[in-house]
Amino acid sequence: MAARIIKDIKEAAGLLQAGKLLAIPTETVYGLAANAFEEKAVSRIFKAKKRPSYDPLIVHLSSARAMEEVTCSVPEMAKELAKAFWPGPLTLILPRAQSIPDIVTAGLDTVGVRVPNHPLTAELLNSLPFPLAAPSANPFGFVSPTSAEHVEAQLGDRIDAILDGGVCKVGLESTIIAFPGGQATIYRYGGLEIELIEEITGPLARSLHLASNPLAPGMLKKHYSPGARVYLGNPAELALHMDRPFAILSFSEKYEDLGAEEVFTLSGKGDLHEAAHRLYAGLRYLDSLGVPIILAELLPDKGLGQAINDRLRRAAARELH
Ligand code: TXA
Ligand code: MG
Repeated sequence: MAARIIKDIKEAAGLLQAGKLLAIPTETVYGLAANAFEEKAVSRIFKAKKRPSYDPLIVHLSSARAMEEVTCSVPEMAKELAKAFWPGPLTLILPRAQSIPDIVTAGLDTVGVRVPNHPLTAELLNSLPFPLAAPSANPFGFVSPTSAEHVEAQLGDRIDAILDGGVCKVGLESTIIAFPGGQATIYRYGGLEIELIEEITGPLARSLHLASNPLAPGMLKKHYSPGARVYLGNPAELALHMDRPFAILSFSEKYEDLGAEEVFTLSGKGDLHEAAHRLYAGLRYLDSLGVPIILAELLPDKGLGQAINDRLRRAAARELH
């Protein structure tokens, strides 16, 4: 049966209080939420997504103050980042409190937390006596949803309801920062630009090997991936040697003369925020045409361009190495 698409916060809160699964809108992507303090409710998230139990979930809070309920000994720098960027597309990995069940953190002694910036979900979190554990609301390994319709299409028959908050403004998952050994370290490029974070932290260390992006070869298939095969590079050059039919995902050019079935331009004016906002919908759209090949152009490697390029590389990877 298809999930119900709802708009009422009270109804949404009632479902979560009853231990149900609810997809929620955030500014980044839609999340698949359950009561973070209820092991049984959280276990349903893993089941619905077919997510391996070693991949921990982010806990969504109503405010920075609520950090105290789920973390302990928060580094000063984390507090500064929270103050500067919450609510917003930033997840902080912090020492966990015992209130959080092991299933949420995959048994780690840290927990990922963020305060999302979406009016409906803010109101929902404020009305609940518990925080929400929520991964992106897609089956494990697939492109994240940036609208209620995307969630319905991929998980509709496995969840109870979807709180419809429109199209996600940012369109990329949150940037993840951790503090191993006291050093501010980026774990995932995302919707908050590194340059802004580094104004507070100074140069970040890099460690881009999350559980869903392991180092071990062959452990997991490609992530963020559509069904078509994605090739990265200059579309004009790639098109010379490519089997037809193919489609193109471009930054701002139209590439009208290359014989593509369709060209999806991320931002005609070359704006990285607009490109991020449209990236996943663009991949889904081109994929839905049934074209077996997508030629994708890499963006300038700065600001959100870094996060977009990271997702394009993952979409293009046959397998992670
Ligand atoms: O924008 C977002 O972050 C969205 C929205 C719904 O908030 N959520 C999201 O969740 O992207 P998910 O589960 O798809 O990605 C979270 C990533 C995973 O790769 C997980 O391994 C990592 O965060 N993570 C969570 N807790 C962690 C921890 N304690 N230590 C290291 N990595 C952690
Ligand atoms: Mg995800």
